[in-house]
Parts: sequence; structure tokens; C-alpha cells
Amino acid sequence: MTEIFGHRGSAGTHPENTMISFKQAYIDGADGIELDVQLSRDGIPVVIHDETVNRTTDGKGYVKDLTLMELKKLNAVHKFKKQYKHAEIPTLEEVLDWAAKKRFKVNIELKNGIVPYAGMEENILDLIDRCNMDHLIIFSSFNHYSIARLHTLAPDIEKAVLYMEGIYKPWEYTKWVGGQGIHPHIKAAKTSIIQRAQDAGVPVRPFTVNDEKTMSRLFEEGCAGFFTDFPKKAVQLKYQK
Ligand code: G3P
Ligand code: MG
Repeated sequence: MTEIFGHRGSAGTHPENTMISFKQAYIDGADGIELDVQLSRDGIPVVIHDETVNRTTDGKGYVKDLTLMELKKLNAVHKFKKQYKHAEIPTLEEVLDWAAKKRFKVNIELKNGIVPYAGMEENILDLIDRCNMDHLIIFSSFNHYSIARLHTLAPDIEKAVLYMEGIYKPWEYTKWVGGQGIHPHIKAAKTSIIQRAQDAGVPVRPFTVNDEKTMSRLFEEGCAGFFTDFPKKAVQLKYQK
């Protein structure tokens, strides 16, 4: 069965990468969530997509230059101001504590392609150890050095390479860098790529799939999963079949 991951939670209808959005994805019936991690100035993994707080909060500046205390003062309701008064930037620990209790899957995307956060992999692995949820985690990153590093540090946790455009035989490439799955942009997830990868035992989970036609195609093709901003719509479509 194709697994549905709420992209940044239920980001199409709720403030992305906040507890409001993650809880909604759970209510919507998703199999799990996807979230993005950066490190605060004091080295705490925080859940926010961009390297700066400018787009999604009422603050300004790089996440790497702000302490957790400073980040916690910001309002991350973003474009949903009318529906929600306030939402904090969550720490990764807060989200994992909640997800562990629900036995809810979490795809942790390490956003270390632009800012090379030192010690990010070790830092995140410490948290996962504490929450005892190895088998509920999938790591991903556009930074494939990070996938290789995670493979060395935590060989038993699933990892997937993220990519935008055609990689030659991505099912072989991911194994080469220490991954087990592939997370391509939907435009790079042609039927033949999904089939060949999954025949080779490599799960494919494209992003970001918001239209019903593509969702239906992925269900029919038995794609391992996909990321969507609208998990409610995807779940309804999945079970109406
Ligand atoms: O992990 C899938 C997707 O989130 C990757 O792109 O920019 O939305 O983090 P982005
Ligand atoms: Mg992401």
C-alpha cells in the first residue's frame, strides 16, 4: 500500500512545519509526516524549511544566528494568520516526542545543503535514540554526503537521497552513497523509474504530489509512498478505490 506522508505536515491548509500542521496530518489519516531540520545558534535541531526565518515567521535572520530562545519567541503561523493566532517553531525533540507516542512515521529531512551545520547528524541521532523510534524514521537530504555520514553512524535507520532531476540508475546510486530509498521530485519519477527501482528493492517516494491525477497514478503503480501538502485529499482518494 502506498504510504501518504504529510509534507511539512498538512502544509496546504495549515502553517507548515508547526505542531498544528503535524497534528492535522495525523487527524487526516496520513501514514506519517515529512519535516525539515536546521540547527539553531546553540546547536538545537529545529523544524523549519528555510535557512532564514524571514518567509515563515515574523522575525528576520538566519536560523544559525538565532538561539533557541530567540527562535521560540517568533510566530510561525505564516500565511494562516487569520485562522491561527500563534504557532511556535518546534524543536525536533518536541515533534519526535509526540510522534513516538502515536507511533507515527517521521521523514526527517536534513537541510544542510546550504549551511554546513557541524555535528548535525550526531545531534539528531542522539534525539532518536532517546525517543526509541528507529524503525519509524526515514532520513533524507539533498546533501548526499550527509546520507553517507548517517549510513556510517546509523546503518539500521532507513535513508533516502533527495533529488530534483534525472540521476542515472538512482536505485544503484542511492545504495552507493549508503541509502536504501529514493525521494525524487515528481517530475523525475517516471513510471519506468518507479518500477525499476522498486524491482531492485528500492522504495520510491516522490515529492510534492498535490493533484489527484498523479496521486491516482502512484496508487495504481504501487509506489511506496509520496509527499503531499494535502494528506486529507490523498487519504480519501486512497480509500475510495
Ligand atoms: O522531502 C521532500 C521535500 O520536502 C523536499 O523538498 O524543499 O519541500 O524540503 P522541500
Ligand atoms: Mg522538505
